[in-house]
Amino acid sequence: MNRRKFLQQTSSAVAAVTFVPAAAANLTGKGGAFRVGFLTDTHVKPTAVAEAGMRSAFRHANTLKPKLDFIINGGDSIMDVLKASREKVQLQWDVWNKVLGEENKLPIYHCIGNHDAWGWQMTDPEVKSDPLYDKRWVMQQHGMKERFHSFEKGKWKFIILDSAQENNGGYIARIDEPQFSWLENELKSTSTESYICIVSHIPIVSFCSAMFADKNEPNGDWKISRALLHTDSQRLTELFHQYPNIVSCLSGHIHLQDMVEYRGIQYYCNGAVSGDWWGGPFKGFAPAYAVFDFSDAGTVKRTMINYL
Ligand SMILES: [Fe+2]
Repeated sequence: MNRRKFLQQTSSAVAAVTFVPAAAANLTGKGGAFRVGFLTDTHVKPTAVAEAGMRSAFRHANTLKPKLDFIINGGDSIMDVLKASREKVQLQWDVWNKVLGEENKLPIYHCIGNHDAWGWQMTDPEVKSDPLYDKRWVMQQHGMKERFHSFEKGKWKFIILDSAQENNGGYIARIDEPQFSWLENELKSTSTESYICIVSHIPIVSFCSAMFADKNEPNGDWKISRALLHTDSQRLTELFHQYPNIVSCLSGHIHLQDMVEYRGIQYYCNGAVSGDWWGGPFKGFAPAYAVFDFSDAGTVKRTMINYL
């Protein structure tokens, strides 16, 4: 089925549900619909402000009405471990695990962020050969078997990607070749009757990525860093175009909020639980998390929540 035909069928499905009384409409959690909290860029650290902020966000999400069915953690759970000693890494994970254990009772699915990867900006050979180097520490903390994974809920499949790859003492936004092959197979093997939502820490398509930096190039050009937008966006969006049942893509990373529709897919960039890394609002965006209502007709509605 091509995208146009799929969307026509979807819109007739949406039209059909407009006759359903409001109380039973798809966004109330009935008829296979469900709600998801997307909490990204929590950047927790062992300070009173960050710990209290994370506590407020998860408490708010856990007591929201109508209730959330589950949470997606969009990554950058902790402040930063790209260049942190073992002790400082452990302290950050300790506060994450403590607050999550005390405040979150909902199922949670994790996406890895760039600041969760240990040691990329360190040169110590002992760190590089440590069994917890790279993403293995974050995977251990989150209980993840793989860096990228998928799961299903009702008529939806969620595909969680691993956006950040080590690059010259830093990182680059892209998926690696084994991950690309896995993604191709995931998409191929998903029923055309299912809807697909793709999650990546770093946006694949976003205007926020251009708004993050404060300065233009001397000649006036806007330059988008390899760290701010997937450098393989053209390859990914071309792949996505072959699958009309891909409805939306969710990301974090930029700490700003936008929604861009590109080639029939909605790309949502979802702010940050930490706002300006626990320094208040970032460029006009208060600390926030997103709520997504997924319907069984293949529609998605986002509501941003300033939880403080
Ligand atoms: Fe972040």
